[in-house]
Amino acid sequence: MQKPMASLSYSSLLFLTTLLISWFMVSSSANFYQDFDITWGDGRARILDNGQLLTLSLDKASGSGFQSKNEFLFGKIDMQLKLVPGNSAGTVTAYYLSSQGPTHDEIDFEFLGNLSGDPYILHTNVYSQGKGGREQQFYLWFDPTADFHTYSILWNPQRIIFSVDGTPIREFKNPESVGVAYPKNQPMRLYSSLWNADDWATRGGLVKTDWSQAPFTASYRNFNADACVWGSGSSSCSSSSPSTGNSTNGGWLNEELDATSQERLKWVQKNYMIYNYCADAKRFPQQFPPECGIN
Ligand SMILES: *[C@@H]1O[C@H](CO)[C@@H](O)[C@H](O)[C@H]1NC(C)=O
Ligand SMILES: *[C@@H]1O[C@H](CO)[C@@H](O)[C@H](O)[C@H]1NC(C)=O
Repeated sequence: MQKPMASLSYSSLLFLTTLLISWFMVSSSANFYQDFDITWGDGRARILDNGQLLTLSLDKASGSGFQSKNEFLFGKIDMQLKLVPGNSAGTVTAYYLSSQGPTHDEIDFEFLGNLSGDPYILHTNVYSQGKGGREQQFYLWFDPTADFHTYSILWNPQRIIFSVDGTPIREFKNPESVGVAYPKNQPMRLYSSLWNADDWATRGGLVKTDWSQAPFTASYRNFNADACVWGSGSSSCSSSSPSTGNSTNGGWLNEELDATSQERLKWVQKNYMIYNYCADAKRFPQQFPPECGIN
């Protein structure tokens, strides 16, 4: 049977719109010189291999860190990290999006080091309007120090999805329907740092950093941002998107978990999640925070 004309032109319109929108969203790939500024650490953060690799290091005197040149208001951010090997107890490698000020928004990945052979903890959190306290923690199903793995944040107006090597580990749905603020008005920069947190990081602070193992080093490569870049008060997406709107974009801006991804998320949450604030009845004896009901 022949396809009706109307649906043909509709789908080509859709295609064109998607194409247009994807032009205006900035997709930048891996050049650390171009995309990031080293912000602290006095030479302990280094960009190598023509901008393809970045390393952070920590010794007794200081850690180090970097931040993106761009600010984003929604996006899909990927980075490959290889964490501090060996005895990394007491060290924390943080990789997060954040805005500024007392009512800031923040989306966090933090990697809490451990003794050789003991598991890292991947700690996640979401702040909106200055309020955090929404921790979920995981063990990983591989050794994150043996090789590079991809850690991604998908942030769109409906949800935040944390993924590891393409497997979603956490979804935080926009909780405005239950009266809780959601990060959607404040552009955020990407930050990363390696620092000493042996007062709390490993087994709650019981295991201290062994400085005889210093310097500790974490490595980064293959940064990619499919994102709306914020500049001079407007977003690269909304200012340029056609009047048909961006809801026709089939990409990350409207992405949700399909059935397969939901299964994988459940698998991770069942087998690798070690803390969930929404299940911590000691901490919330009266009732769980409202967003727990929709997540
Ligand atoms: C470190 O290893 C211990 C023992 O296996 C474990 O209880 C803890 O969760 C691990 N991770 C951190 C960051 O403490
Ligand atoms: C999507 O389009 C609407 C209307 O055109 C606009 O208000 C909104 O800011 C856009 N969203 C993004 C993320 O650009």
